[in-house]
Amino acid sequence: MVQQHVEKTIEALLQERRTFDPPEEFASRAHAKDSSIFEQASADPEGWWASQAQRLDWFDEWHTVLEWNPPHHQWFLGGRLNAAHNCLDRHVATTPDRVAYHWIGEPGETRAVTYEQLHEEVCRLANVLKGLGVGKGDRVAIYMPMIPELPAAMLACARIGAPHSVVFGGFSAESLRDRINDAACKVLITADGGYRRGQVVPLKANADEAVAQTPSIEKVLVVRRTGEDVPMVEGRDVDYQDAVSGASAECPAEPMDAEDMLYILYTSGTTGKPKGIVHTTGGYMTGVSSTHHLVFDVKPESDVYWCAADIGWVTGHSYIVYGPLANGCTSILYEGAPDWPDKDRWWSIVQDYGVTILYTAPTAIRTFMKWGTELPAKHDLSSLRLLGSVGEPINPEAWIWYQEFIGGGKTPVVDTWWQTETGAIMISALPGITTLKPGSATKPFPGVDADVVDEQGNSVGRGNGGYLVLKRPTPSMLRTIFGDDQRYVETYFGKFGPEVYFPGDGCKLDDDGYFWLLGRVDDVMNVAGHRISTYEVESALVDHQAVAEAAVVGRVDPKEGEAIVAFVTPKAAVTGDEALLQELREHVAKVIGKIARPHSIVFTDDLPKTRSGKIMRRLLRDVAEERDLGDVTTLLNAPILDEIRTKASSLRAREE
Ligand code: PRX
Repeated sequence: MVQQHVEKTIEALLQERRTFDPPEEFASRAHAKDSSIFEQASADPEGWWASQAQRLDWFDEWHTVLEWNPPHHQWFLGGRLNAAHNCLDRHVATTPDRVAYHWIGEPGETRAVTYEQLHEEVCRLANVLKGLGVGKGDRVAIYMPMIPELPAAMLACARIGAPHSVVFGGFSAESLRDRINDAACKVLITADGGYRRGQVVPLKANADEAVAQTPSIEKVLVVRRTGEDVPMVEGRDVDYQDAVSGASAECPAEPMDAEDMLYILYTSGTTGKPKGIVHTTGGYMTGVSSTHHLVFDVKPESDVYWCAADIGWVTGHSYIVYGPLANGCTSILYEGAPDWPDKDRWWSIVQDYGVTILYTAPTAIRTFMKWGTELPAKHDLSSLRLLGSVGEPINPEAWIWYQEFIGGGKTPVVDTWWQTETGAIMISALPGITTLKPGSATKPFPGVDADVVDEQGNSVGRGNGGYLVLKRPTPSMLRTIFGDDQRYVETYFGKFGPEVYFPGDGCKLDDDGYFWLLGRVDDVMNVAGHRISTYEVESALVDHQAVAEAAVVGRVDPKEGEAIVAFVTPKAAVTGDEALLQELREHVAKVIGKIARPHSIVFTDDLPKTRSGKIMRRLLRDVAEERDLGDVTTLLNAPILDEIRTKASSLRAREE
């Protein structure tokens, strides 16, 4: 009954309320209320970004805002600053007792960490790192659960000018190993374990397995989180708490050039190993501070802000750590799963802490929709005044549900488009100015020159679809791929030339010039808001001794965004049965991490290929989505497709 009512309500809302003007009260108090900033920024983008850089503390002023030698760009040349200083020291001087993080452990413990306390922890840890031999420019790997020591570790690295490379705690030992080796990290900071759905995630055990094959790692710093007994390697492993409590709390912030590397973060690409996206200090800090201020309209004195992502992804880097701390705001940091111990954990947190701004992903919203409106309805969510979404296109139903049942029908919802590579939000509403359309990320942020173009790179104009492009660099965008600049040039500037950044997304412009993102156009899948390449999963599958060949595609999935479907040809004399299916799923989880585990596996004697031997994933995608097949004229072995189709549809029927 309730469900029926909800569906009817959403249907009615979708029909009746297609656009939402900013609520008057919200708009009158918003940081951005005058739409002339858009014109100002497009008339003088460099001047605009320079004004945003003034939000930061600089040790030395820059002499040049932008040096653009396409496809390379550098910002705020001559300027010197430190990210940790901007996130901590300047707030310690004014609001030392303000809470930086309200931390909530999954089992239920809580800690409030003030700016002063975080500053002290960071200084001590920075001294520990120095003592372990870490200097400016050395890379530090971080593999940790969502505990306050994680942002502290990132900021300690930033304080001494050592770029960090955070690896999501859900990744496997092998993924960690490859990322450490790619960046030749000197030290690893990890924990004994973390909690997820009541279980302990064995981070130290994974770290030990990884570090057995990472020649560059000299020391491993281990935070005690779960208190379990984990083996410590003599001479290599160091107890975090012991070391930090014995270190000095005095550590001056290293003045860094604006273009010095702040961090590396790995993300999936269409081919080859994950790409180490390089972000620098001045431009990145400018981008995250400015967007966090204007898109989330944060008032540090009164807001309780919650970005419910994991710090292991870029969303957490930019909007749990660097943006909110640069702006001196109070955030929630929650360690665990949304359904532990109950499916209303998030709504208890919102009520208990009076959360005012919530930022999450469509996949989470769709999960909450499935769990029903009774759960949020049990809690007082009236403190919420703004909601945000990121990671994949948000369908209008989910947008409306989010606004209605979480936001009480009154809060603006900002759908924010960006990527690991862009570092900060590029397309989003400004909630005090923009009229919202459910399902659209609306318009580019001031200073962002986005367009939609056709195959030749010509603007398609309003009312048409094509490829999303960014026609000018912005300060927060990546500078290169670590150790592989050629790949940077080819991946992002190979399609439309050196001046036009191609993010890999399809997009439509409506008659009002609103941007409607349509998902990836390349071989990268978006599973529950996380990018996974078909190539990575295929490599993991063929790495198994029973597999001769594999092709992987994403199928549109109502909850996850995309579900991974694998087509696998077993080696001769191997039977593709249920046992092998389970073994392969586990194998992929071990090699990459659980997020990459295929949802379905179809065993087949052959794969559809072109005459030159290239697997035609496009046709497999048609099969996976049960669509009519596209152009098959270049196909070498046409009959195999019928066979695959029959198998795939009987598998799908069984799954449903
Ligand atoms: O396809 C777009 C999708 O996520 C990709 C970037 O993934 P990642 O680097 O992991 O960063 C995710 C969080 C910033 C994009 O190329 N994407 C992200 N946000 C949106 C989106 N697609 C549609 N709408 C969004 N708001």
